[in-house]
Amino acid sequence: MIALEPLASEHFGTAAKWLSASDINQWLTSEWRGRMVEPALIGIAVRNKRNRFFLVRCEGEPSGLVALADWDPIDKVAMIWYVRGEPSFGGRGVITDAVVQLVRLAFSEFDIEALYAWIMEDNHRSRRVLERAGFREAGRLRSATRHEERQIDRIYFDLTRQD
Ligand SMILES: CC(C)(COP(=O)(O)OP(=O)(O)OC[C@H]1O[C@@H](n2cnc3c(N)ncnc32)[C@H](O)[C@@H]1OP(=O)(O)O)[C@@H](O)C(=O)NCCC(=O)NCCS
Repeated sequence: MIALEPLASEHFGTAAKWLSASDINQWLTSEWRGRMVEPALIGIAVRNKRNRFFLVRCEGEPSGLVALADWDPIDKVAMIWYVRGEPSFGGRGVITDAVVQLVRLAFSEFDIEALYAWIMEDNHRSRRVLERAGFREAGRLRSATRHEERQIDRIYFDLTRQD
């Protein structure tokens, strides 16, 4: 069973450890990419009203994070992002399930009308997560991110409440 819970301070250390791992943060926005994250920074991010962080538990065990960022309650739009923190939970669709749950929460509880996400063009796993969760490719921003010393494209996906 996969369950989400708001990220509480006792898990800031775990989240910081996950987000400090280069095999994870290399795929994230430049804000997180290639840096060591202290638990205090997670605390600052959690207090930002434009963010919502959720711990993902699989069979009761912390396994990853799903989050909203850039939440604009006037335009009713937010960005969704996620990481699978523990390697042992890979290949089981845990984060896909968690993303589906966060999408439902966003549309039913947070009065959000549109969600979007962006991936680096070669992030095939993340593409699958979004496609399985019902997102559609919305467009490409060419040469708009960096991965492994290369300038590559961002691919945007979106999902609306109407979908
Ligand atoms: C993206 C991420 C959350 C996916 O979680 P995961 O536990 O690896 O997910 P899964 O193992 O269930 O794989 C997801 C899908 O990718 C597929 N996949 C796995 N490895 C793959 C590969 N090398 N190439 C292509 N597809 C792959 C799986 O088959 C699965 O597709 P399916 O649901 O159709 O079977 C995880 O890889 C991660 O944390 N990556 C780093 C952070 C990141 O990229 N976050 C997203 C930023 S936009």
